[in-house]
Amino acid sequence: MDSIDDLKNGKLPKHLAIIMDGNGRWAKQKGRLRVFGHEHGVKAVRDVAVNCSKLGIKYLTLYAFSTENWKRPKLEVDTLMKLLVSSLKKELHTLNENNIKLNAIGNIESLPSRALAELKEVMAKTSSNTTMTLTLALSYGSREEIKKAIQSISTKVKNNIISPENIDETIINNHLYTRNLPDVDLLIRTSGEHRISNFLLWQIAYAELYFIDVFWPDFKEHHLLEALKNYQHRERRFGKTSEQLN
Ligand code: FPP
Repeated sequence: MDSIDDLKNGKLPKHLAIIMDGNGRWAKQKGRLRVFGHEHGVKAVRDVAVNCSKLGIKYLTLYAFSTENWKRPKLEVDTLMKLLVSSLKKELHTLNENNIKLNAIGNIESLPSRALAELKEVMAKTSSNTTMTLTLALSYGSREEIKKAIQSISTKVKNNIISPENIDETIINNHLYTRNLPDVDLLIRTSGEHRISNFLLWQIAYAELYFIDVFWPDFKEHHLLEALKNYQHRERRFGKTSEQLN
């Protein structure tokens, strides 16, 4: 098994994104309530974030709560929001010890006021950290993000700030929640599902996709290292031929 040091000698993704799936099924398998799975999911979040920062990955983005997740039973939504608040409080020192800056994407203004306040506080208290940016996607939906970008670019066109023929990928990038993040290099989804579920649709245009049949609370360091090793063996051509790359 490769260690963190072995992997550091090869090419690593600059931006890793993860769809953390399977908390509910993990709990059900154990005869417990879904929220038990989310509680254990938090530990996996901490371990992955710390390991990624140790590896030198600059950007880690986690799908923590989608726009569609608001439709879940109230008890589950309330518990997830409480978990967010308690985890932010508890893990502030972990973020600072590992020089990790917290960031958020999504319609965060729709979060309960306590969650939003805690999130803003931890983002402020970690804003000068430089090893890695950990972005939590919260109340995030990619189609909504693209819709908002189109609305805001259209308003600028209407007010003669942008002319339609000048709209390019940079302008579009600059109107997305992810305006300060590079494109995703590697996207991991746990739980055995092979879907993107409205996550970073624009940003994963050239990402390598990696699906693993392990529920999120069981996603351990060796699974992360295995995914990164797999990434190191892939050839990313960006539309070119192998010969052109060599
Ligand atoms: C997917 O599992 C997971 C979520 C919807 C939430 C992810 C949340 C956490 C890992 C914990 C809280 C996060 C932070 C950042 C404090 P699922 O419930 O869809 O599982 P299922 O597909 O088995 O039902």
